[in-house]
Amino acid sequence: MVTSKIVATGAGIPSQIITNDDLAKIMDTSDEWIRQRTGIGERHISGGEDLSYYTAQAARQIIERAGITPEDVELIIVATVTADYCTPSAACMVQKAVGAVNAVAFDVTAACSGFLYGVSVADKFIRCGVYKNALVIGGEILSKIVDWKDRSTCVLFGDGAAGVLLERSETEEGILIEELGSKGDMYEVLTARKLVPSNAFNQVEAQTECGHVTMDGREVFKFATKKIVSGVNKVLETAGLSAEDITYFVPHQANLRIVEVASRKLKIPMDRFYINIEHYGNTSAASIPIALNEMNEKGLLKKGDKIILCGFGGGLTWGTLLVQW
Ligand code: UT7
Repeated sequence: MVTSKIVATGAGIPSQIITNDDLAKIMDTSDEWIRQRTGIGERHISGGEDLSYYTAQAARQIIERAGITPEDVELIIVATVTADYCTPSAACMVQKAVGAVNAVAFDVTAACSGFLYGVSVADKFIRCGVYKNALVIGGEILSKIVDWKDRSTCVLFGDGAAGVLLERSETEEGILIEELGSKGDMYEVLTARKLVPSNAFNQVEAQTECGHVTMDGREVFKFATKKIVSGVNKVLETAGLSAEDITYFVPHQANLRIVEVASRKLKIPMDRFYINIEHYGNTSAASIPIALNEMNEKGLLKKGDKIILCGFGGGLTWGTLLVQW
């Protein structure tokens, strides 16, 4: 039985911290509103560096911790909606930054579920025997696409990158079960960066600025709680496990209240969910790997532990993975 297992984690996080009080100085909001509605206290915001800077930091740390050389890396996948360019991919920029000259590199786009989709794709390449390892990074510079005049969205998001190295394993461990899904008919609920098809031969007005994040927060909230609950139940049922067998549930960090609702519905206590939203806000594709890296650095994950990662976001998309550490 061939599986892929996580052998190292790493992150690249902007050093600039913007608190809720900092935001209240430039817009009509308050620490109280943001904390009560979301659980967010502060977020890391790029000081001007683009995504490639932080994904490269994460990649270097992962490679070093895995004890391999850049030349050993066979596949690089970056999950993002905020790459430096439309082309090249963020993954190709990681390849250049670290000197992973032998790797195949491309991006996946599934918004906040993107890291889980990236891990799923890498897992298939490894299980099929095409590649022996894969660097999978989720990263976002959301601060460059939020509308800083829209207090209902800009206070929610943060910047950062983190990821894992997956390696081929001959034993039953690593990525065990997955449940991914998409609901394109709801795409308008959460959009960003619409590119206008303006050209020299039509009357479409040229775009003056990049399309910002727009979101129907309540719809996303309902969707998110439903998908965490159904995803966790489905993965547990498929695995023949109960919630007690899972050491930690690691949800996408979008809103503390979303996790609290899911925790009540699933009858799984909140202390089994790893939460760090207070210090990062919603970093979209980066949120789950940032949490995983933090847990790993704190020594919370022991060999053999089973964890469930669950994400949801634009698309709309969702994903739940059962992982054995
Ligand atoms: O990563 C996946 C994508 N995103 C999500 O998962 C987000 C899911 N949704 C949510 O987290 C929540 O819906 C929000 C946090 C976005 C909003 O919370 P809410 O409880 O649904 O608030 P609301 O949008 O209904 O707004 C309530 C009030 C409004 O004022 P009125 O109309 O009641 O007078 C807003 O204008 O709060 C006001 N408001 C604010 N007040 C202070 C909205 N944003 C702010 C703000 N500061 N930043």
